[in-house]
Amino acid sequence: MPKAPPLRLGVNVDHVATLRNARAGERPDPVRAALVAIEAGADGITAHLREDRRHIRDEDMARLKAEIAKPLNFEMAATADMLRTALATKPHAVCLVPERREELTTEGGLDVAGAHNALAPFIARLNDAGVRVSLFIAAEPRQIEMAAKLRAPVIEIHTGAWCDAVVDGQAAKADAEWQRILAGAALARSAGLEVHAGHGLDYATAEKIASIPEIVELNIGYYMIGEALFVGLGQTVRTMRGAMDRGRKLAGENHASRNPAGKR
Ligand code: PXP
Repeated sequence: MPKAPPLRLGVNVDHVATLRNARAGERPDPVRAALVAIEAGADGITAHLREDRRHIRDEDMARLKAEIAKPLNFEMAATADMLRTALATKPHAVCLVPERREELTTEGGLDVAGAHNALAPFIARLNDAGVRVSLFIAAEPRQIEMAAKLRAPVIEIHTGAWCDAVVDGQAAKADAEWQRILAGAALARSAGLEVHAGHGLDYATAEKIASIPEIVELNIGYYMIGEALFVGLGQTVRTMRGAMDRGRKLAGENHASRNPAGKR
């Protein structure tokens, strides 16, 4: 059977820091969580340094970079302050996300099409520094086309609306969002972009999205940290990996049907 490219799992450790910060101490330590996740099979670690530092702190980012042996994906807003920190940290990747202080989580994708003039120098500086830039966007053609024009090598498709519709049992909305993700992933790949996805994924939605061969990385946090309370983080990572591997088997067939000439 033809094989799709491998699918990486990036584990987001933000909410280990949320729990730590509830008591303003040092435990639980998000770096320890990152090490446990890697030991259990995570391919990389993701952390979001928010403007209000509500979970991850500057020193967590520095320690993650120093202490983990796998790629660090640094999520941040496109501000001058964050750019300075990212260039000093030199993570493997930076994922640019929109950020509003009052939101509970990153609610929508970055408006790359509307803010391309402001984003262009950020992307260029990070590209020049050898940091892989990813833009967290909705699976909309105009956003994807602008991401390619801005020479960002990677996009991450915001899966939040799809996951919410699945969990809420809104079948029609879930299907519409799924179709949008499918089309967006194909368009992005054909524009030469590497495609990641994330936000709100659980075992079931991760298994399903793993069947899309254009997607090569999932970044997952909140659900896994919640599950870890009951079964431990190592077990959660292994179960997630199993779900992704089951879904990925279907990606081989999907890949073959989209590349009939045998192009890989
Ligand atoms: N990807 C990006 C760009 C995000 O901002 C987040 C949330 O921080 C995630 C993935 C992970 O989302 P969740 O915590 O809902 O799994």
